[in-house]
Amino acid sequence: MLPSPIFQTDKGKLYKGDCLKNMPTLPSESIDCFFADPPFNLNKSYGSSVNDNLAEGKYLQWCYDWIDEGIRLLKPGGSFFLYNLPKWNIPLSNHIAKQLIFKNWIAIEIKFSLPIQGRLYPSHYSLLYYVKGKKPNTFNPPRVPLQICRHCGGEIKDYGGYKNKLNPKGINLSDVWSDIPPVRHKKYKNREANALSLKLMDRILDISTKEGDIVLDPFGGSGTTYIAAELKKRKWIGIELSTTDEIVNRFSNIAIEREYYDALQENKNVLFTKEALKLRKKNGKHNGKYNIEHQHEPTQEPLLDL
Ligand SMILES: C[S@@+](CC[C@H](N)C(=O)[O-])C[C@H]1O[C@@H](n2cnc3c(N)ncnc32)[C@H](O)[C@@H]1O
Repeated sequence: MLPSPIFQTDKGKLYKGDCLKNMPTLPSESIDCFFADPPFNLNKSYGSSVNDNLAEGKYLQWCYDWIDEGIRLLKPGGSFFLYNLPKWNIPLSNHIAKQLIFKNWIAIEIKFSLPIQGRLYPSHYSLLYYVKGKKPNTFNPPRVPLQICRHCGGEIKDYGGYKNKLNPKGINLSDVWSDIPPVRHKKYKNREANALSLKLMDRILDISTKEGDIVLDPFGGSGTTYIAAELKKRKWIGIELSTTDEIVNRFSNIAIEREYYDALQENKNVLFTKEALKLRKKNGKHNGKYNIEHQHEPTQEPLLDL
């Protein structure tokens, strides 16, 4: 039997409890997108009900259990995302690959991390992307702006004689995402640690869902997935074992999130963001060779599909 949600909007429902108890109450093949950002077993404190320091085998088995539930809930053609450390996503990916079709291992660059003795400096999290069946129901990656120097506005990569052939709607999204900011700004910072950037969730939902689709995230935290889904007019199902107060508070201040969300929408599917154009102008960079006068107009045929 379905438990009662602790909070709901006209698009979503939040359940307080253990995802391994809540997910089995949902019907098979009922969701379009599954996203999970579980505890990484790093001995962090998530409240007394979460043990984030399990023996390796136990942690993996626990993950296999909710992964299998997530796969059961996914519609054919639905998308499955798992955000974790590379160390865990290697065995977890092998497990998922037995049931779903692999799309990408996406490296999300970490801006500020701590060195680990005897290892190379860790600079990325892993985001696994799988699809149930051969063809995704939705695959709609946004195009991204050219990377520029944040001081002078100059291009980081040299496009040589091809500048006028670049798609005015931006560059093809790759599987290395270096443009996801850590959530540091106090205005947007919702908890001490672990809150994901709204930009990350906006992108994942852009790629894999359309308006009205249903998104499930079994590890709510501060509710970034639910806020992104709400703002993007997707339906959502949330579960959180510890306190849900942060999520509920965040929804009561959703106007603040909307400001940032609106800015995100302006900065995709263009070759240069408005900020970039300002910076380039200030530093005397010429845009003459770029075919950008139409970049805010509906999609044109790409000339050079980079
Ligand atoms: C890494 S955080 C998720 C952060 C979230 N993505 C955000 O942007 O705020 C993981 C969350 O999972 C919750 N959690 C841990 N075990 C759980 C379980 N069995 N069922 C539901 N939630 C759980 C923790 O309390 C924690 O808030």
